[in-house]
Amino acid sequence: MNQKAIGIFDSGVGGLTVLRQIKRELPDESVVYFGDTARVPYGSKSAKTIERYCIENAIFLLEKNIKMLVVACNTASAYGINKLRRLFNIPVVGVIHPGAKAAVAVTKNKRIAVLATRATVASEVYPKAIHSIDPSIEVISQACPLLVPMIEERMGNHPAAALMIEEYLQRVKEKACDTILLGCTHYPLLHDEIKKALHPSVFIVDSATTCSKEVKEVLLELGLENRKGSSAETRYFVSDDPEKFRETGERFLNTPITEVLLEGIH
Ligand code: DGL
Repeated sequence: MNQKAIGIFDSGVGGLTVLRQIKRELPDESVVYFGDTARVPYGSKSAKTIERYCIENAIFLLEKNIKMLVVACNTASAYGINKLRRLFNIPVVGVIHPGAKAAVAVTKNKRIAVLATRATVASEVYPKAIHSIDPSIEVISQACPLLVPMIEERMGNHPAAALMIEEYLQRVKEKACDTILLGCTHYPLLHDEIKKALHPSVFIVDSATTCSKEVKEVLLELGLENRKGSSAETRYFVSDDPEKFRETGERFLNTPITEVLLEGIH
């Protein structure tokens, strides 16, 4: 059991920010990653559709014989995680609760801004998760639908991205939030640009880093960690266009990806 892989899925390439952190946190663990590139983006889809995609993605990964499922996509975590936990008999870790917990731990003025896709904002999962820990915190949710395509089109440091970030952060600044939660897989890649647009004292919490810490905690708690080391491997599967995934993925991971297989739901 311990040598089985951790399964991670995302709507596409964005979840590699979570994979990167998990590999840092747990270098001895094997990982199977599934990017649902045929059906990306999830952020503009309806709740029912996202939930169905989550179940199909989980079944695909379970067939790869995994010991734990990580839902790297914020939108998928928002709509699918409860259903996945009810349906499948392995630990399921998402990105919402770890991110919310970390943001609550750092805010001092109790004003947290959450940047996410439209669907994640509409689900209100982040405010609910934050309020379940501390109901007195004010949460300002901001949908940033143009940031994902900007990042995927390599325009993260284009002046247009800076303008967009400025626009999206306007309300956040007006409300003087001291903590920004990056509630989307892609936004860690704009960390520096977002930081530049804010007062230096503002904390930035990213749900990819906090999720990887939770994955480690759960593995250790359940005694599921790989104790044999050295045999760790990472395999990538997508539902469409493996070459595009490889190219963009290498940029996200900052390391070469040798093989991406076209499999699963397409
Ligand atoms: N992975 C999605 C998320 O974290 C962003 C991309 C999409 O809309 O599918 O919400």
